[in-house]
Amino acid sequence: MIDMTLGEVADVVGGRLSGADPQARVSAPVEFDSRKARPGGLFLALPGEHVDGHDYVRPALDAGAVAAIVTRPVEGPSILVDDGLAALAALASFVVRRLPNALTIGITGSVGKTTTKDLAAQLIERLGPTVAPYGSYNNEIGHPLTVLRVTGQTRYLVLELSARGAGHIAQLCQIAPPRLGVVLCVGHAHTGEFGGLAEVARAKGELPAALPPGGVALLNADDPLVLAMAERTAARVVTFGTGPRATVRAYGVTLGSDGRASFTLVTPAGTAVVKLRLLGAHNVVNALAAAALAGELGMGVADVAEGLSAATNRSKWRMEVTERPDGVTVINDAYNANPEAVAAALDTLATVARGRRSFAVLGPMNELGEESPQWHEQAGVLAARAGVAGLIVVGEDAAPMLSGAKAERSWQGELIGVPDADSAVAALGNLLAPGDVVLVKASRAAGLERVALALTGEAAQ
Ligand SMILES: Nc1ncnc2c1ncn2[C@@H]1O[C@H](COP(=O)(O)OP(=O)(O)O)[C@@H](O)[C@H]1O
Ligand SMILES: [Mg+2]
Repeated sequence: MIDMTLGEVADVVGGRLSGADPQARVSAPVEFDSRKARPGGLFLALPGEHVDGHDYVRPALDAGAVAAIVTRPVEGPSILVDDGLAALAALASFVVRRLPNALTIGITGSVGKTTTKDLAAQLIERLGPTVAPYGSYNNEIGHPLTVLRVTGQTRYLVLELSARGAGHIAQLCQIAPPRLGVVLCVGHAHTGEFGGLAEVARAKGELPAALPPGGVALLNADDPLVLAMAERTAARVVTFGTGPRATVRAYGVTLGSDGRASFTLVTPAGTAVVKLRLLGAHNVVNALAAAALAGELGMGVADVAEGLSAATNRSKWRMEVTERPDGVTVINDAYNANPEAVAAALDTLATVARGRRSFAVLGPMNELGEESPQWHEQAGVLAARAGVAGLIVVGEDAAPMLSGAKAERSWQGELIGVPDADSAVAALGNLLAPGDVVLVKASRAAGLERVALALTGEAAQ
């Protein structure tokens, strides 16, 4: 964080300072997990689902936090506010406006945000000091916390923007106004909460709508609902995509037998060959978005291609590949799932397996609303069509996958329904043989990373 006094912080958040020296300096970021509290930082006490942050003020102060931002009085130095999240937003908003030389970049879309953010950050870091979120820090907590990691040296602030309803992205854009904004796609993630695709599109469009006339809206030309957002922005529009009409595009995409895509990156500034290290053809469009961003920031096409070819998966459990000593390949994609991501993962599984036996362990895709059973059934169909040797369906909500797969009469694979992660591991124990490939995928809440971690022998975290 930029250097401020506690008195200044209290003013900015409209809070009451107690038990603390107003001249004490805050120099480290805000944390809401007391285990991460650092000397010079602030601790934000939030009421959680299971624990109340106010019970952790003492350990945070012991770890060196200068004060805690609280909504009820506590022992020790504190700033008392009415609303912790509003205080966080106000502080982030103030801090980012104190850095006229830092350029803010926003990335949104239904799938691929974190991957694109990680790719973009790995490119942009080559241009100057960059702050980007850890993992999926993209909501009303993670976004401002990321903003507050900026320092006087920061040149680029890359932010992931998520929405669970109308107005969320607009609000994040008010906290840290982006100059460049990327929209990846409008898909079915969270359609249950939004109501439908049109509502999702309207919400994602809040990012281009927030961009200033001197800014750049980077829009996926492969997705008509995203391309239509060109109407909603005052910024210059640059498109990316796999089709021939995009400004930044991929030519001659091939998927290697290792599941990694190669292509010629075509930009107005020239072309260069890219070989991604990330798994799956679906990452081509994420790479193009990152390339378009870096190009707008002045990076040459050869550097962009080199950076993309070197970039790795920074955030865990997204198409993470482990080769076991016995020749079994495990693909841990248990961080997140929705119809688009499951289809992409099954495609990748089929490519990687090519000639080897493949197994899919699929759990529920959350937040799909009324259409949830149909989407699960469809995922079962896709698994069967991908030619898996076995489909293990985990949990009640995913059960329609079983009927979907069964309906594919030409498919001969093993079909198993299990209630939880542990029974999935047990079922796999009887099925797997050296040389097999296993994909593990579900929404985060399903906890299917435990299956992948059991398979790879890593400790659960
Ligand atoms: N363009 C894409 N199309 C389909 N699936 C994708 C795409 N990009 C990423 N995915 C998959 O979606 C899941 C979530 O990816 P992530 O980058 O974390 O997205 P987000 O941050 O938007 O949730 C992962 O399983 C990933 O492999
Ligand atoms: Mg994310």
